[in-house]
Amino acid sequence: MSQDQPSLFDESAKENTPITGLAENTARAIELHDQLNQANYAYYVLDNPSLPDAEYDRLFHELKNIETQFPQLLSSDSPTQRVGATPLSQFEQVTHEVAMLSLDNAFNEDDMNDFNRRVSERLNTTDVIEYACEPKLDGIAVSLLYENGLLVRGATRGDGSTGENITQNIRTVASIPLKLLGADHPPVLEVRGEVYMPKRSFESLNVLARENDEREFVNPRNAAAGSLRQLDSKITASRRLEFCCYSLGRVEGRDMPIKHSEILAQFSHWGFKTNAESKVVQGVEGCLGYYQQLAEKRNQLSYEIDGIVFKVNDIAQQQRLGFVSRAPRWAIAHKFPAQEEMTILEGVDFQVGRTGAITPVARLKPVFVGGVTVSNATLHNMDEIKRLDVRIGDTVVIHRAGDVIPKLARVVLERRPHSAVVIEMLSRCPVCDSHIERLEDEAIARCSGGLVCGAQRKEAIKHFASRKAMDIDGLGDKIVEQLVDENLISSFADLYSLDMESVATLERMAQKSAQNLLAAIEDSKKTTLAKFLYSLGIREVGVTTAQNLQNHFLDIRTLVKADFETLISVQDVGPIVAQYILNFFSEPHNQEVIDGLLQAGIHWPQVEVKTADQLPLATQTFVVTGTLNLMGRDEAKGYLQALGAKVAGSVSAKTHALVAGEKAGSKLKKAQDLGIDILDEAAFIQLLSEHGIEHG
Ligand code: IVH
Repeated sequence: MSQDQPSLFDESAKENTPITGLAENTARAIELHDQLNQANYAYYVLDNPSLPDAEYDRLFHELKNIETQFPQLLSSDSPTQRVGATPLSQFEQVTHEVAMLSLDNAFNEDDMNDFNRRVSERLNTTDVIEYACEPKLDGIAVSLLYENGLLVRGATRGDGSTGENITQNIRTVASIPLKLLGADHPPVLEVRGEVYMPKRSFESLNVLARENDEREFVNPRNAAAGSLRQLDSKITASRRLEFCCYSLGRVEGRDMPIKHSEILAQFSHWGFKTNAESKVVQGVEGCLGYYQQLAEKRNQLSYEIDGIVFKVNDIAQQQRLGFVSRAPRWAIAHKFPAQEEMTILEGVDFQVGRTGAITPVARLKPVFVGGVTVSNATLHNMDEIKRLDVRIGDTVVIHRAGDVIPKLARVVLERRPHSAVVIEMLSRCPVCDSHIERLEDEAIARCSGGLVCGAQRKEAIKHFASRKAMDIDGLGDKIVEQLVDENLISSFADLYSLDMESVATLERMAQKSAQNLLAAIEDSKKTTLAKFLYSLGIREVGVTTAQNLQNHFLDIRTLVKADFETLISVQDVGPIVAQYILNFFSEPHNQEVIDGLLQAGIHWPQVEVKTADQLPLATQTFVVTGTLNLMGRDEAKGYLQALGAKVAGSVSAKTHALVAGEKAGSKLKKAQDLGIDILDEAAFIQLLSEHGIEHG
C-alpha cells in the first residue's frame, strides 16, 4: 500500500482526512439527522432499538464533527442538541392560548355512574357513550409547540393560562421529537402530555442521592418536576425522563381526526409516545372494567399512575359538553385509593426473629392506606431509623402499594413536636434478657441468647440436632417443633432426659420410631469437640471454623477462657468471628448450657496435642478446581486447611491431589498428565468424612 493512500482501517488516517465541501456535508448532516431521529424514535418511543448502540454513537459523533467544522449546519432540531444548553437565570413566562385544563375526580363507582349520567343528560342521548381510557400518569403536564414540524417551545402548565418556558429542558427528553416524523403536519401543532420519571430511573436517582449524601426525592412525580424545573438543562439531560402525549392543544392549518383515540394514533405516526395501555370502551361498564384491570396491573407498570382518565371519545360530543370552571365536562379522573397517607408514630416495638435478629417495628395510629388499615410497619434496623431520622411522636408518611408490605416512607419534619423521642436500640433482648449484640459494620442487631431465647429456641435445637452437628437421626424439624410446643424440652440438655413415656405422646410417633429416636439421642453423646462446637450455634462458627478451633484448643475449657488475641491467632478466625465467640462464652447462660450437656454425658475422644504437622493432611498440597455442587470452592479449601493440608493455586509435580468439580479445565488436564490423584466431589466428601468432617 502506498504512503499517500491510507488504509480505511487506519483510524489516525481517517481523523486526518479533511472534511470536504459544505454542500456534501449539508447533505450528509441531513441524512444523519434522519437516521439519528429514526433511531431515537425506535429506541425511546417504540422501545424497539433499531441500531446497535455503537453504530448510534458513531453516527452521532460524525454529526458532531460536521457541526463543529460547519457551525452554520447546527440547527436547534439537531439530535446533538439533547444534551443541555447554557444555564438560564430564570424561566420566561408563556401564555397558553388554549387553556390547559385540569380534571374532576371520581373516587368510586357511584361517582363514575354520576359522571356518565351527566354526560348522557347533557348530550340528551340514551345511546351508550364511547370512552377513551388512559392511565393517569403521575408526572407533570407540559405543552409542546411545533411550527412546520419543528419543536419551537416547551412549557409547563403553570396555573393553566400561564406557564414557564422550559424549551431547553424539554429538548433533553429523548422521547420528545425535535422534528415531527412523517408528512402532512399542520403548520402549527400543540401537543400536550405528561413528562414523568419511570420507577427504575427514580430509584437509581435516589440511590445516587443517598451515596452523595443529598436529599432524596419523595416520589417519581417530584423527581420529574424537580428535573424539569432546572435552570441548567444539563441536569435535566442527566435525568431519565419520558414523555407520553394525551391531548391536542392548538392546531392550525389542518383538520384533525374526529375521535380522541384517532388523534392519539396520529400523534404516534408523527413520532410521539402514546400510552400502550390506552383503550376505547363502551359505556360506564366498560370504564369500570378497564379501571379494575389496570388496578391489578398497576404495580407491574414501569411508571407510577394514580388513577385512570376517561374521556368522551367523540370530539364533536366533547365540544357540545364544553367545560365548567377549569375542568372539562367530557373527562374525569377515577383515582386509585391513595398509596400514601400521614399518621403518627406512637411507639416502636422490638421483635426477635428466629435467628435472633432484632427488628424495630413502628406502632402507628391506624391509618387507611392503599385499601387497608395499617397499624404497624417494619423499620428494618437502626440504620434505617437513622436514615429516616424518625422519632416517636413524629408525623410519618406510610406508603402501601398493592400487596407490598406497608413501609414508613418519610417523616414530615415540619410537624415534629418538641416532645418527639429519639429511638434507641435495646441493650437486652425483650424475650430473654440476654445481651443484644451489634458489631460495627453490621446493620442488624441480634439477641445473643440463642437457645435460652424463646424466640430462637426451635431453630437452635434444629441446628443442634442436624447432621453436621450432633447428628441425631430421626430428630427432624417437625419433631423439634412438637417437643418445644408440648413443653417437653426447652434446652439442648433436655433432649438427653427424654424417655419413652414422653416421646410416645408425640403425634404420629410409633413405638418403634420412639425407640429409634431415643437410641439416636443416646448415640449422639459420643461426638467430637468440633461437632459439639458447631452444634452450639455460635454465630459465624461453621464446620470449618469449629474444626480449626478443635485443632487449636483441643479442649473446651481452654477455648472458653481464650482471649481475643488467642482467638484471632486461630486459622481462619478474624476479628468479627473472634468477637462472636467471646460474646458467646461470656454469656453466663451459655456456660450453663455447656455444663448441662457435659453433665448429660456428651463426650469426645481426648485429642492428643497435635502440632500443625501432625494433622492428618499435614505435608500434603491440594488444588481445588471446577464447580462443586454441594459447597463453594472456598469452603472446600477451608476444610482442607483445617485438616492441615496446604492449598495451592496451580497444579505442579508437588501437588498431592486435585479436587476437581464439574467443568474443570486445564488444571484437570495437567493433573492427568502428571498422574496426580484426582478426587471428584463425592470422593472429596468421602475423604472429609474419613477425617471426621461431615458435609451436606
Ligand atoms: S387529560 C382536559 N390525560 O392529570 C384534559 N391528563 O388532573 C386535561 N394527567 O394536569 C388532561 N395523565 O397532568 C389527561 N392521560 C391523561 C393524563 C392526565 C395524567 C394529568 C395531567 C393533568 C392532570 C389533571
